[in-house]
Order: sequence, then structure tokens, then C-alpha cells
Amino acid sequence: MSKDDFSTFADSSIIVIFVKNYYLKKVAIVSALTLTFFSSCFYDNEEDLYPVSPNSYCDTSGVTFTGTVYPIIETHCNSCHSAVMAPSLGKNIVLDNYTHIKYNVDKGSFRGSIEYNPEYIGMPVEGQLDDCTIQKINSWIERGAPND
Ligand code: HEC
Repeated sequence: MSKDDFSTFADSSIIVIFVKNYYLKKVAIVSALTLTFFSSCFYDNEEDLYPVSPNSYCDTSGVTFTGTVYPIIETHCNSCHSAVMAPSLGKNIVLDNYTHIKYNVDKGSFRGSIEYNPEYIGMPVEGQLDDCTIQKINSWIERGAPND
């Protein structure tokens, strides 16, 4: 809108409407920016306040040797630590049944290796198990590693 166009707004009520609209637009933009700002702040605060988000919650209730721990070992360890593979790939450490597993748990090397404790060789070699899987195994160890 040029100055000339503007001067044709002789009627002051039109100018008032124009100014009002302009003002309202500004208010709308400022509110939108404020909302964005505060919502991002709120998000950050939520993360600070609740570092354990629902996604990272690990349910260790109902963990048993047969139902939970053994299947994990079968999947992640026994390609090397089965009775057949251990002599060639698993340094003769056999984890194929409760007795063999309990023996390594009692030695401390089982927990030490899955936690990648620097005093032990981290297991599985190709990369650590996810946090929740480790927590489940540890909850079983902390119950005394029963044959349940
Ligand atoms: C790719 C083969 C492979 C897989 C998979 C594997 N291991 Fe091992 N593991 C080995 C080898 C090889 C050694 C001996 C390493 C050495 O002494 O240098 C070993 C050593 C160990 C030891 C002794 C560690 C120490 O510091 O004394 C334990 C305990 C163990 N493994 C447990 C596991 C568990 C539990 C899993 C699964 C979560 C697993 N391993 C998966 C090959 C494997």
C-alpha cells in the first residue's frame, strides 16, 4: 500500500480498523512465538525432572531363569558358549545349562562381562546387551540366581 493509497483513507474509522487489524496480527505473532518458546521450555524441564521417561522403564518383575535369563543366553551367548562351540569359540566357557551358568555367576565373571566391567572381558564381544536386558539378568542375580 503506497502513501497515496493510504491518504485515500479519509474516513478515520477505516484507519482505526486498519490499525486494529495490524495490532491484532502483531499480538497473534507474538503469542505464537511465546507459546512455542514456553512449550519448548516445558519439554526441556520435563526431561530434567523425569529422566526416567516411560520409554526407558524396565519391568524386571516376573524375571525367572527359565523364562527370561536362559533365552537371553541362548540368543546372545551360545553361538560361542554352547558345549559344542565353547572349545573353539568360547574359550571353553560353557553356558548351556543352569549349573554351568550359575558357576560363572558365582565367580563374578558373568555379571562383570555383561556389564562391560573393565576388570572382565566385555560380553557379548560384538556389543553390549541393551540396558533393560542387563537389568533383568541382574535382578535375577540379586535374587540369588535361583533355578526358577
Ligand atoms: C562371538 C563369540 C562369543 C559370544 C557371542 C559371547 N562370548 Fe563370552 N567369550 C568369548 C570368548 C572368545 C571369550 C574368551 C575371551 C578371552 O579370554 O580373550 C569369552 C569369555 C567370556 C567370559 C569370561 C570373561 C572373563 O573376563 O573372564 C564370560 C563370563 C563370558 N564370555 C560370558 C558371555 C556371555 C554371558 C555372553 C552373552 C551375553 C557371551 N559371553 C557371548 C566368546 C563369546
